[in-house]
Amino acid sequence: MRNHRDFLAVTDFSRDEIIETLALARELKDRRNRHEETRPLDGQVWGLIFHKASLRTRISFEVGIAELGGHALYITEKEIELGKRETISDAAQVLSRYLGGIMIRTFSHKDVEELAKYADIPVINGLTDFSHPCQIMADIQTVYEKLGRFDDFKITYVGDGNNITNSWLELAQRLNFELVVGTSEDTLPDMKLVEAANKSGHSRVTIEHDPAKAVKGSHVIYTDVWASMGQKDQADEKARKLRAFQVNEQLVSQADKNCIVLHCLPAERGKEITDGVMDGPHSVVFDQAENRLHAQKAIMTVLVEKQ
Ligand code: CP
Ligand code: NVA
Repeated sequence: MRNHRDFLAVTDFSRDEIIETLALARELKDRRNRHEETRPLDGQVWGLIFHKASLRTRISFEVGIAELGGHALYITEKEIELGKRETISDAAQVLSRYLGGIMIRTFSHKDVEELAKYADIPVINGLTDFSHPCQIMADIQTVYEKLGRFDDFKITYVGDGNNITNSWLELAQRLNFELVVGTSEDTLPDMKLVEAANKSGHSRVTIEHDPAKAVKGSHVIYTDVWASMGQKDQADEKARKLRAFQVNEQLVSQADKNCIVLHCLPAERGKEITDGVMDGPHSVVFDQAENRLHAQKAIMTVLVEKQ
């Protein structure tokens, strides 16, 4: 019998739970600024499994767990060889006897689902080739801070239809905004998620191949690297297909005059985004990166308190 919650997709939370989690993230941010402690993970050790590189996810989870009273273990492929030395299900059952929770960043989304299925403790998706839900919670927290609302805005995602795009499409099934994906015909996101978002009765999602049309009137412009981790062998091909989708000053000038520009980072400056935009007046990318910490502390708190 499952007596715990996981966070593998934004859609693991209801609309109300997303809104409550965002409110908690704001409260935790305020408390941190006032140097007030909150320790829902007191005495717990969490495992952070990484099969890909990371700056933000690793550090924000380690710091976040410590600030919530817990202790984090950084675990790479070398130590546990997940799915190789033993089945993922056996590893999940053993890890559950030691740890309070697991965050995993890996290639295959199915592996994460398998781990969560057999673990008796909360499992958090820290990025797969398919999705990156923790990032999107920090993104929407940033949108709320800057625009004052999490519904009724227009966001254009410009670039490769990837794990970030897919998680925004999952959020589109819970909140009410307009999402335009500006990308080439060959770099589309998961089209089943586009359909699910449009059927959800929440957001409206369209695909647009003309970048200037895509950003027209947008309150938020979002971009990410053209070739994700796990696809670096396609970097040249993706760059050719997405060259017209660079977020530069000219493109930003076509959007709402007060628009904000988001990027999950790391950025490849001069490719998907110019220095002028990254360092310019519309960019909120470092506030967005900071919010990873607050959003994830809120997600972990919800998972341990709402079993
Ligand atoms: N945005 C993000 O997940 O960054 P890292 O890859 O550095 O963790
Ligand atoms: N789409 C990028 C996001 C990195 C945070 C990747 O998967 O590499």
